[in-house]
Amino acid sequence: MSASDISFLAYLISSSPAGLSADFTTLTEADLDPGDVTVRVQYASINFKDALAATGKGKIIRRFPCVGGIDATGVVESSGAPKFKPGDAVIVHSHGFGVSHHGGYAARARVPAAWVNRLPPGMSALEGITLGVAGYTAALAIDLMELNGLAPDKGKVVVNGATGGVASVSIDLLAQRGYHVVAVTGKPAEADYLRKLGASEVLASAEMPAGNKPLETALWQGAVDSLGGAPLGALTRSMQKDGVIGSIGNAAGLDFSASVMPFILRGVRLIGVNSDNDPELRDRIWKRLGSDMRPKHLAQIARVIPFGELPRAIEAVVAGKARGRAVIDVGSDKA
Ligand SMILES: NC(=O)c1ccc[n+]([C@@H]2O[C@H](COP(=O)([O-])OP(=O)(O)OC[C@H]3O[C@@H](n4cnc5c(N)ncnc54)[C@H](OP(=O)(O)O)[C@@H]3O)[C@@H](O)[C@H]2O)c1
Repeated sequence: MSASDISFLAYLISSSPAGLSADFTTLTEADLDPGDVTVRVQYASINFKDALAATGKGKIIRRFPCVGGIDATGVVESSGAPKFKPGDAVIVHSHGFGVSHHGGYAARARVPAAWVNRLPPGMSALEGITLGVAGYTAALAIDLMELNGLAPDKGKVVVNGATGGVASVSIDLLAQRGYHVVAVTGKPAEADYLRKLGASEVLASAEMPAGNKPLETALWQGAVDSLGGAPLGALTRSMQKDGVIGSIGNAAGLDFSASVMPFILRGVRLIGVNSDNDPELRDRIWKRLGSDMRPKHLAQIARVIPFGELPRAIEAVVAGKARGRAVIDVGSDKA
């Protein structure tokens, strides 16, 4: 039997006149999209974007049918790119993965080499996917924010959507770097979890200042924003002079309302953070995640879920009920 005849389980998102559907199916390597590197997938994860994609709550998928999963870790089986060789432990994420090209919810993935990074030395496949796109984006945000003036001695850094994947890793990284982190969450019952990651203070979302003046009391030198929408507008109004906001996500909405006053009177910097990067930047950030930005609390952040429970776990993420990173054990190949 050749490799292309071996069948494996995949979670496929399809579209029909009746609407979008997602279910387990069986594929072979011949069904995979073209690419330089074939990976035996061990773990994938459920990012907010994956949950929107698989339920049709967001128009994420750009090619049907498509195996979902925008990140995965595993081992290189074969490579036409000199940068990788069989046996390399790697992570695949971003660009078209799980969006316009079959993604990580399958035991095999074949992708362009530019979407692949070697895992940092000593980092397991489980630790790598616990970071995944979320951890990569958190590290990228902090890297960009520090390039724009963020520093531990300048004041508090607020992290909203705090129990989410991006936010959990951000809290861990910021606390290790000496920042006073204020975690803001819709799940105040998770305060212990957030403190263990390194938050100095935990606020319920309802406790965030709600004033609507162009400039409110200056509270934060930094903000890692997973939410967009009204919470992002509120952040612009309560930043200190020269404060830096990393705009990462849209869990609370796409549009936000703000005036120019924070930008022209306080010098507030609104930094866009996008994980679709070229190989040089990806290499630099993954190197940092293996060295000076290596998180300490990945075991607390990960929740490992059997492949067969993926659909139920996706519903929990859509409902905002999940905590940390939902890691899918694809390698066990059972549904
Ligand atoms: N820019 C990029 O390249 C990039 C990369 C990765 C992720 N993202 C985006 O970043 C955001 C976070 O991603 P993630 O994977 O960390 O998501 P996640 O794990 O699902 O976490 C999102 C968190 O936001 C809060 N939340 C959820 N729904 C909400 C709602 N309707 N209103 C207010 N808060 C809500 C919840 O935290 P609490 O209950 O603790 O408040 C939830 O845990 C998403 O919008 C995602 O698309 C962007």
